[in-house]
Amino acid sequence: MKTLFLGLTLGGLALSANACDEQAADYTTCIAQQYRQPVAQWPAPQVDADVQWQEMAALPAHAPAPPENTFSEAKAGLGKKLFNDPKLSRSGQIACASCHEADMAFADGRRVSFGHDRQSGRRNAPSLVMSGYSPALFWDGRGGNLEQQAMHPIVDPVEMAFDIPQLLQRLNTDSAYREEFAQVFGPGPITTQQTAQALATFQRTLVSATRNTAFEQLLRGRPQRMSDEQLYGLHLFRTKARCMNCHFGPALSDEQFHNVGLSYYGRKYEDLGRYEVTRKPEDVGAFRTPSLRLVMKTAPWMHNGLFVNMEGTLAFYNMGMPRPRPSAQQVNDPLFPRTSDRLKALNMDKDELRALRSFLDTL
Ligand code: HEC
Ligand code: HEC
Repeated sequence: MKTLFLGLTLGGLALSANACDEQAADYTTCIAQQYRQPVAQWPAPQVDADVQWQEMAALPAHAPAPPENTFSEAKAGLGKKLFNDPKLSRSGQIACASCHEADMAFADGRRVSFGHDRQSGRRNAPSLVMSGYSPALFWDGRGGNLEQQAMHPIVDPVEMAFDIPQLLQRLNTDSAYREEFAQVFGPGPITTQQTAQALATFQRTLVSATRNTAFEQLLRGRPQRMSDEQLYGLHLFRTKARCMNCHFGPALSDEQFHNVGLSYYGRKYEDLGRYEVTRKPEDVGAFRTPSLRLVMKTAPWMHNGLFVNMEGTLAFYNMGMPRPRPSAQQVNDPLFPRTSDRLKALNMDKDELRALRSFLDTL
């Protein structure tokens, strides 16, 4: 094996650069070997200089909880019951779980969701597995944290179409709920805040759905289930494919908003995304970077669910994603969206695309 090892000490800081010979027949095996080491010894990613990236990392048993809503198993158990209970909707037929299904990484497998009276929403239901890591939930970041978000779907007319006073009345006249809430929060009537806190606490436990993935095992120091090709795909994700400019850290998301060229500006599926929250022209068509944990279970992909095939999705990234040009009438339109400059043509060949694709299977 032709491995070059370079150890240099710069002002007391130990840097090591491992290099494998790209021309050698065992190049991918050599790369894979480096990623079988602990994460701290992986080759550094190639990320643009102004990106404040974080290293990939294993996940705890539940996402970190805020001090005003500390974690307890009893609270998570109550939240789970609420999450699965259609009583939280006006019709008594739609639960949170109707659109966030456990075996689909808490997404729903549909392009856009159906809610009350089978009305369809306009966005794809995201996986909730990593939502506990997001300070600004929803595709456009309007949702705040899990506590702030929890009541939105209950009152959303195309989701559960209910109202808060009636919900509280329904819960307060249910003796089983009265008893369970009292055990968790102490005596007194059930409140909106308690309901939101219980739902949020349950959702923080969903990170555990990643526990048995080959990628999570790798991060915990057990690389056995990762093939050479998958580890080479991980390397490409961090280097040539540029994914790690936006998908990094334990959740594989920078929690920022980017335009990847899918706003359909001026067309039938137009969605202005983050602009609807900030009203800043540079936010037109920008969406929150989704976590990629369990991504192969959350098809169809993107805010509008228009991508149904992962090879196709990667082909788009390989071309640098769409970069729509303004029409004659649009040239002076200050809102005409601009695709992020972080996306560039990648020139990955068939083998590289296949390795990247096989890495996504491990997430
Ligand atoms: C009718 C389908 C539907 C129901 C019912 C529903 N959701 Fe959602 N949920 C969605 C869709 C669609 C989105 C994305 C909306 C957007 O980003 O604009 C979403 C987004 C979310 C998010 C943000 C995830 C993220 O990472 O951005 C959370 C958290 C969430 N839902 C929790 C819940 C909870 C809790 C309930 C029950 C109280 C619930 N949902 C009920 C469809 C639904
Ligand atoms: C400029 C930042 C950026 C880069 C670089 C980037 N992504 Fe994304 N990614 C996003 C954003 C933002 C979205 C959501 C876009 C939308 O819905 O319009 C997304 C969505 C996705 C999705 C869909 C996930 C879902 O749940 O719907 C996949 C898969 C994905 N990216 C994989 C990749 C891969 C693989 C790479 C590297 C080839 C990559 N991304 C590079 C920002 C980025």
